[in-house]
Amino acid sequence: MKNIFYLLFIVYIFTNCNDATQKHTKTNSIVLSAKVEAIFQKMTLKEKIGQLNLIRTGKSVKTGEVVSKNVEDKLKTGLVGGIFGLQGKRNIRSAQQIAVNKSRLGIPLIFGLDVIHGYKTTFPIPLALSCSWDMKLIEQVAHSSAIEATSDGLNWTFSPMVDIARDPRWGRIAEGAGEDPFLGSAVAKSMVKGYQGDKLSENNTMLACVKHFANYGATEGGRDYNTVDMSDIRCYNEYYPPYKAAIDAGVGSIMTSFNVLNYIPATANKHLFTEILREQWGFSGFVVTDYTAINEMINHGIGKDLQEVSYKALNAGIDMDMVGEGFLTTLEKSLEEGSINKDQIDIACKRILKAKELLGLFDNPYRYLEESTDLLNKDTRQLARKAATESIVLLKNNNSILPLTNDIKIALIGPLANSKENMLGCWNVAGDYKQAVTVLKGVQSFVGKGNVMYAKGANITDNLKLTNRVNALGKQIEIDKRSPADMIKEAVNISNKSDVIVAVLGEAANMSGEASSMADISLQDSQKKLLKALKSLNKPIVLVLFNGRPMTLKWESENLDAILDVWFGGTESGNAVADVLFGKVNPSAKLTTSFPLSVGQIPVYHSMLNTGRPDNKSHKKFRSNYLDIANEPLFPFGYGLSYTQFEYGKIKLSDTVLTPQKPIIASIDITNSGKVEGEEIVQMYIRDIVGSISRPIKELKGFEKIQLKPRETKTVRFEINEALLRFYNSGLKYESESGKFEVMIGKDSENLSKTGFVLYLK
Ligand code: NOJ
Repeated sequence: MKNIFYLLFIVYIFTNCNDATQKHTKTNSIVLSAKVEAIFQKMTLKEKIGQLNLIRTGKSVKTGEVVSKNVEDKLKTGLVGGIFGLQGKRNIRSAQQIAVNKSRLGIPLIFGLDVIHGYKTTFPIPLALSCSWDMKLIEQVAHSSAIEATSDGLNWTFSPMVDIARDPRWGRIAEGAGEDPFLGSAVAKSMVKGYQGDKLSENNTMLACVKHFANYGATEGGRDYNTVDMSDIRCYNEYYPPYKAAIDAGVGSIMTSFNVLNYIPATANKHLFTEILREQWGFSGFVVTDYTAINEMINHGIGKDLQEVSYKALNAGIDMDMVGEGFLTTLEKSLEEGSINKDQIDIACKRILKAKELLGLFDNPYRYLEESTDLLNKDTRQLARKAATESIVLLKNNNSILPLTNDIKIALIGPLANSKENMLGCWNVAGDYKQAVTVLKGVQSFVGKGNVMYAKGANITDNLKLTNRVNALGKQIEIDKRSPADMIKEAVNISNKSDVIVAVLGEAANMSGEASSMADISLQDSQKKLLKALKSLNKPIVLVLFNGRPMTLKWESENLDAILDVWFGGTESGNAVADVLFGKVNPSAKLTTSFPLSVGQIPVYHSMLNTGRPDNKSHKKFRSNYLDIANEPLFPFGYGLSYTQFEYGKIKLSDTVLTPQKPIIASIDITNSGKVEGEEIVQMYIRDIVGSISRPIKELKGFEKIQLKPRETKTVRFEINEALLRFYNSGLKYESESGKFEVMIGKDSENLSKTGFVLYLK
């Protein structure tokens, strides 16, 4: 029952999306406190524009080339609203002191950073964490990250990223919650709550920033920063809901996306940032661009110079310019020339002042510098270990080879088995990889040093070009001095003396994340060769896979005995892997993104539309299929095994007729028929069989994570009401339609039992 609150909220989100045709009435009414209003009244035009300027100083994190010059002078003259990427109390305090003591009006700065999956304590990458389907845990992780980050002086995080992603070539799939809008909305809400708490002005809560609006995850070919073209119906039904959920949960800021959406760069897209965000959704926080996204619109070809792209961004409804200083250097001129008006600058400035007011900075600019927390302490490490174990997905377990007993000889083989550099995953700007626990260390703590034999076996890749590109932000791929053949030989020798081979393989941490798209998402050749050599030994092989994206694993799934997808678990990775390998924790996570059989299937996801010629696994001529492979992914959305077995009973409906006044309840009994306690994520999907537009073959509409002792049975109940069945139709009205529906409940998106009901609207 622990997820019921979240489910109700998600149902609320799905039922309270305004029609795209309706307008919000409260647009642009920003009421400042008397104190802040008085400051605002004294501001010059230059100072107002200064508030719209987010700068990066030399000491900050870098994801682009621009560094602001003459920072101290700018701070003194009120030309800076916030600083991006500055870390450490001393740095933050000295910048704040200049703004507060040396500038004319003493307006405090906000300090933002990408606190994506933890601060000093690194939690699993977001995609991994979403596989827990545990909203309480996700909220706790965000809250713990906020406690650490705020105690180091920060008050704004560029998280959560809620972009729906259905293309695993896109490296940033690692940063989101996968392919589904219903689950994605639940995660978005939990993260916002976790960061912002109930009151932003508490010393340990921080402003969240939902990103990247809009639809960055649908970039063509999976290539980063690339074009997106999408129908409105798909935007509203499938890609917008998580952004909307974050807004309904009270997120204080939103970031633009780098991509062009339907031929207009998001950062100049008035339809997105004024019509949808403000008028339809009533968002009252502020909009920040992505890093130099205004400047990049010259490359997009929608402005001849920085001045033109800057006024286009302001006209679209953007409030703050991240790092590019286009607003700072050109808005005054554009005002004189009449391309923008004074009110637009006033509104943007007020929105940013309001955020500072809500953070309590006008009462005490140093409030986030006062608390001291022991960073990376025992408790946060414990939470990180729990989060990492809850994120691990068991993809295969032939003959119940897992869990391992601790009285056997283990050959621990692979380039990721003893690699601290790769445990944290992408986008950990404050984490210290040296603090991470490796798999070798974790396994040794269960079986002692004597029972584990380790060999690297292969480089992550032997491809030098790829190595250099991946190592651009720090060395994660270490090319061994030995030849690949010698490394394999050592691994084979060791494995020959073992009872079981645990192969720890996969991607380097920075093979996913920003600017890390991959065209080939299978294991690198170096690792495939190693695996084939190990396979020839006829010993049981467990693959422990580190990855920031779904990978193509056909051979591995056919030839290995077990596969444990451990993603990148963060600081406690190695301990978490060992917890699951030895059965201290029974794995319960389920995939939130489909694993394609081959890159050629992409995009492949559970909620596709039907074709006029569905294949139904027949492979007949003139059906919608591939000649060479199946349509279905290798591992579907929602899939994941446990060390126990769960038996599902029949779906019972409280009624087969649903009306707006009378919801129905779908219930099902789940029994743990295995020998150990375990958790199961029960999923409900619905299909609207006939509609005014084509509707998906199934849509996730409910889930619940339950815990069951051996032989225990629990009944899971899902309420189905009229609102849950609404969708955006061709007129972009959010409505349900009378007719027949299928309801499907099961352990994953393909393993479902089915029944039906009818919706009567009149
Ligand atoms: C670019 C990324 O797209 C965005 O997600 C991030 O928050 C900013 N850089 C700031 O680092």
